[in-house]
Parts: sequence; structure tokens; C-alpha cells
Amino acid sequence: MTSAPASRPRVLVTRAIFPEVIDQLAEHVDVEANPDDQLWSRDELIRRAQGKQGLLTTGGERVDAALLAACPDLRICANMAVGYNNFDVPAMTAAGVLATNAPGVLTDTTADFGFALMMAAARRVTESEHWLRAGQWDRWRYDLFAGSDIHGTTLGIIGMGRIGQGIARRGTHGFGMQVIYHNRSRLPAEDEAAVGATYVSKQALLQSADHVVLVVPYTPESHHTIGAAELALMKPTATLTNIARGGIVDDVALARALSEGRIAAAGLDVFEGEPKVHPDLLACRNVVLTPHIASASVPTRLAMARLAADNLAGFLTTGQPLTPINPEVLGKG
Ligand code: DGY
Repeated sequence: MTSAPASRPRVLVTRAIFPEVIDQLAEHVDVEANPDDQLWSRDELIRRAQGKQGLLTTGGERVDAALLAACPDLRICANMAVGYNNFDVPAMTAAGVLATNAPGVLTDTTADFGFALMMAAARRVTESEHWLRAGQWDRWRYDLFAGSDIHGTTLGIIGMGRIGQGIARRGTHGFGMQVIYHNRSRLPAEDEAAVGATYVSKQALLQSADHVVLVVPYTPESHHTIGAAELALMKPTATLTNIARGGIVDDVALARALSEGRIAAAGLDVFEGEPKVHPDLLACRNVVLTPHIASASVPTRLAMARLAADNLAGFLTTGQPLTPINPEVLGKG
């Protein structure tokens, strides 16, 4: 007598992702996907998540106590992002739901982009391109879109995790910058030496950096890490680049500082309330704005999707996730 096949775990992929990753996932679990990338309401998301053991989320979907209570079959939520401020991790742990993220695979791509955004802001790349496209270029001028240098200047990094260290390496070894950083905890001396970075207070960093780059995770404590008071400490020639999360910068205060020339320029990939961008920022000419694409190279986005899928399938089929955020859940049940 043959026994009936055990039913396969069911997962919901909340947004469109690479079809080949959906196919890979479907080899192990039953998948409800969203190939048309519908933006489901929260009620619709919860309705579809009910009866699923796993969710593959992309960073914008809030997983909190209310969703967990409505979806008692849920065992894992795998974020296709290194940041996971969309997860209420204590609530997930209390509900015995594993949270995973996608660290490591996007470090260099994101650090490259941070550098690109900082350089574009310092050298006024998009501002000058808009001017050229508007047909205003009629002569060479000695000061035409003259900006500030990158090489040989002081780079201040706030947040010194993997991506912060990637930016530090680029600054030290690629551009001969003096790199200073501020972080909740100081790096071990050998890690500081490897990336060529010196630990300073936040105030000293803001006062002495020519280019400030933000790479801190978003938490209640990091909300408005940069507001009017911090912007007032910065050099008027300095730039500010945010590739971390919206909400780490007070966008209204930044728009004011940019329009008043309190700082020279900014590069922003993330915004408070994105995908909406504050109209005061849109009105500033000295800011480079990109739509949350710091990790968006094709190979990296594919690696992020594969890691999220491997976390889901690994946990649901063998109990072995790759990158758990709350591994204490693994010991339960
Ligand atoms: C991340 O991985 O947290 C990025 O912001 C992805 O979009």
C-alpha cells in the first residue's frame, strides 16, 4: 500500500520577481505569485497570506502582530532585502514565525551606488545634464557647474555595517580619501585598519566631513538621524548621501538646507513616505534623486531573490534557512 503524498507547503510571493526564481521555488513548494505586480491593499495581502506557511516579501510589506494573528499558518517571512524595518521582529518571534533577510549579496553593488550618488551630487552630474538638455549650453565657462572634489577629501560614513565598510574601502583605496565613521559600536581595530577608517563622534563627523554618507538601518532610534540641527553642523561645501532608508533624514529640513545653501548638494535614493517624494526636494536643483535602486544591478537583484527563495524553501522543506534574523524561533516547536 502506498501512502498519500504529504501536501507541499504553500507560499505567497507578494510582488513580481524574476520568473526563474518563481520556477525554482515551485520545485519545492506550492507558489501563489504576483506576476503582474499588483499593489495589493493590506486587507488583500492578508487574505492571500491566509493558509500560507511562507511569505516572500520585498521590503515594503508590513508584517506585524495584526497580520500574524490573521495568518496563524505562517511559519516564515523571507525579505528580499537586507533591511527589514517592515518586520515587527519581536511580534514574529512571539508568534514563532521566522524572519529572514538578504544580507551579503548586495554589499558591493550598493556600495558602488552610494559612491555613484555621492559623486553625482558633488560633481553636479544630473543638474548639469538637465541644463544641457534644456538647450542652455552655449559656451565653456571657467566655473560652469564647478563642484567639489572626491579624491583627497574627507568621507564621513554614518553606519559601519557591511555596506558602510564597502564604501570606506572604496574611499580609502580607490580615491585616497580620509575616512571617518560613526556607528553604534566601534569596529575591531583590525577591521578599522582593513578599510582605513577612524572612529569619531557624530558631531565631529558632521563638522569635518566633506561628504557624509548614511548607511544605518531604520529603527525608532535612527529616525531623523539628520535633521536641521545636524545639517547646521555640516560644512556649506559638504554633500549628504542617503542610501539607507527614508526617515533617517528629515526631508523637509534637508530641502530647506539645500535651497538656502546650508550644504552644497545631496544624493538621495530613499525618502520619507516613498514612493512619494516631498515637493520641496523636487524643487531643489542641487539634489540627485533616484527611486530606491542602490541594489538594482540585474545580477544582484537576482541573487537577492534567489537568497529569499532559498530561505523559504530551505526552512519549509528541511528546517534550514540560510540567513535568519530571529534564529531563536528555530529552537521552538
Ligand atoms: C535593501 O536590501 O534593504 C534595499 O533597500 C532593497 O531594496
